[in-house]
Amino acid sequence: MTNFAMEPLVRNAWYIAGWSHEIDEGILARRIMNENVVLFRTQNGDAGALEDRCCHRGVKLSLGYACADGITCGYHGLAFGTDGSCIDNPGEDPNPSFKVKHYPLVEKNKFLWIWMGDPALADESLIIEFPYHDDPSYGFQYGHYPINANYMFMIDNLMDLTHLGYVHGSTIGGDTENHNVAELETFQTENGARFVRWMGDVTPPPTFVSAGGFEGNIDRLAEFEYKAPASVTQIATVDDAGQGDKTNPNKEGKLGFRLFHHATPVSECEFIYFFSAGVHGVSVDSEPSKKFFEDILEAFLEDKLFIEAQQDAVAEQPDRQLLLRQHDKAVAFARQAIKRLQVQETSLAAE
Ligand code: FES
Ligand SMILES: [Fe+2]
Repeated sequence: MTNFAMEPLVRNAWYIAGWSHEIDEGILARRIMNENVVLFRTQNGDAGALEDRCCHRGVKLSLGYACADGITCGYHGLAFGTDGSCIDNPGEDPNPSFKVKHYPLVEKNKFLWIWMGDPALADESLIIEFPYHDDPSYGFQYGHYPINANYMFMIDNLMDLTHLGYVHGSTIGGDTENHNVAELETFQTENGARFVRWMGDVTPPPTFVSAGGFEGNIDRLAEFEYKAPASVTQIATVDDAGQGDKTNPNKEGKLGFRLFHHATPVSECEFIYFFSAGVHGVSVDSEPSKKFFEDILEAFLEDKLFIEAQQDAVAEQPDRQLLLRQHDKAVAFARQAIKRLQVQETSLAAE
């Protein structure tokens, strides 16, 4: 039916370079879109992203250390500001031609958003709002995994939840049949896809039992939205059977949680899966919250296994077609959205 598999990268977009707290803990070297990037926080508190290569003798800046207004190279002490300009050339006069490539970086809602494309196009209003990270009524935890696959395989995975019962049976999944017959409404959006999924009076998966204390069946409502190129927001509400409201994903049920998923490409066949998860009304340090996140970490490793296996198979025979079935409506909309961005980028480059 369709022949898409591995998608080319879209550069003119905001991607998660890291979580804010990661650069509180030290300098971070990360490869994004085939480029080596160093992420750091200056002693004055600003976040910066530069090419991880000193313009003097080519050493990685990530081997250096933060200074008041930038980062100091560990080799001969040249320092660079967050805009890439050389702010200290020890023992010599400043030289305006000493510069390091810098990337637009925005710190917001605990994310570090980076723009790897044309800096002139880096419009901050395009950054996704996710205020839940700053809402104290949610206990959020943050993680990331490297995954050896094309980034869109992660989006496919999140846009077709019929895998839950098969892949995540011991954690967040539940009964396969319940997933196969879930009520599903799918919408195409301006920059992606959105679906609302309702499972009424079904057996709770183990993670929900331990996090929500359910004793009988549950009503389960989830809303997922893909925003091209690489983000998926998830809102979920779980109630005792009969108490759920399938028309209102924002209802704070007995167990309510929010997740953010993102696939930052490292290359065409590798990405960093960033994810955060917060349970409503549950503090991060509580046992149910810890157990919930442990299960999420386990579940996402299960996804990693399947996605990497998929990558191996597809990379071996990239011309073989993949299929869409009826459940893949959101997958198809997501792939259409990424195609639109690719076309846009190609036509901009041709101008
Ligand atoms: S290589 Fe960085 S200061 Fe010399
Ligand atoms: Fe999954």
